[in-house]
Amino acid sequence: MLVLGIETSCDETAAAVVKDGRVALSDVVSTQMDIHRRWGGVVPELASRNHVLQVMPVIDEALSRANVTLSQLDGLAVTSGPGLQGALLVGLQVAKALSMATGLPLVGVNHLEGHLLAIRLAPDAPEPPFLGLCVSGGHTTLYDVKAFGSYARLGTTRDDAAGEAFDKVARLLGLPYPGGLPIDTHAQTGDRAAIKFPRALRGDDVLDWSFSGLKTSVLTHVQTHGVPTGQALNDLCASFQEAVADALTKKMILGAKKVGAKTLVLCGGVAANSRLRSLAEERGADAGLNVYLPPKRLCTDNGAMIAVAGYETFRRGVAPGSFLTADATWRLGGAVANG
Ligand code: KG4
Ligand code: ZN
Repeated sequence: MLVLGIETSCDETAAAVVKDGRVALSDVVSTQMDIHRRWGGVVPELASRNHVLQVMPVIDEALSRANVTLSQLDGLAVTSGPGLQGALLVGLQVAKALSMATGLPLVGVNHLEGHLLAIRLAPDAPEPPFLGLCVSGGHTTLYDVKAFGSYARLGTTRDDAAGEAFDKVARLLGLPYPGGLPIDTHAQTGDRAAIKFPRALRGDDVLDWSFSGLKTSVLTHVQTHGVPTGQALNDLCASFQEAVADALTKKMILGAKKVGAKTLVLCGGVAANSRLRSLAEERGADAGLNVYLPPKRLCTDNGAMIAVAGYETFRRGVAPGSFLTADATWRLGGAVANG
């Protein structure tokens, strides 16, 4: 089965053709990073306008790289939430138009289900059940993935997402947007014990996170000592990154113990973070858990993950919808009582 996946929920316009929910025949991503960088974050109106410009060329490129025509496809999948409402509507309307013109069935996909299932594009990916930590610019949520289509929320952030914390701290330090990679790069040669930044919600009975206090702590440090440069900048980046990775991995292990999970999976843009990856491996091994770290290219937003989630949606027999609409705050799965 060939599915075309379309993703326009934030600042990447992406499309991909995926075969049988496992093999990406193409995966085209057009990023708007350069447009938003000068504003220090994603500007929703600019995102929508640029999706309108990019979405058709990106879809054409995905079909041509996969060497297929629309008539050879079996289905269409599009991100219908969560994300920026105007940005979502662009992908959604194009997908509906394609569906009407071709008669292909169309399903709406939750962006976070896409992140959780992106690992299916790697041949060695674990099957459910597993515990999936989705960490991106907009989300920080721990899911108990019991089976495809069955997700329970074990914990989530009470304020900033982890990626948002990276982006905001990078801005305080005068580093470019998005801030995750620059901080990660500076941290490579920094001392992660140099500054003792706080960890919020430390109790073993809570699986949630809070990152706004950490951000304020970095702000206070910068106000007191000035914006660091050289080794001091590297030390601050390493210490901040350690605080985030420590909090994320501690709760992941706690969550695994709580539900008896044997396998942990990281996904979303922050899952590319080198310290988060090494600490997850280290602590997972200490707890006797398998830890699966997807290749970094599968962590950030792409169309292939949407095609995979769409394929699984078709397999579950969910009725394709011509009444699909964007749901900017669509929550994936039910919440499990926590703390
Ligand atoms: O999943 P994603 O591409 O888009 C969203 O759905 O948000 O994630 C983007 C986020 C940004 O906040 C970016 O700073 C962060 O992922 N990120 C990283 C790294 N690479 C990207 N954060 C920490 N370390 C990295 N190496
Ligand atoms: Zn994402």
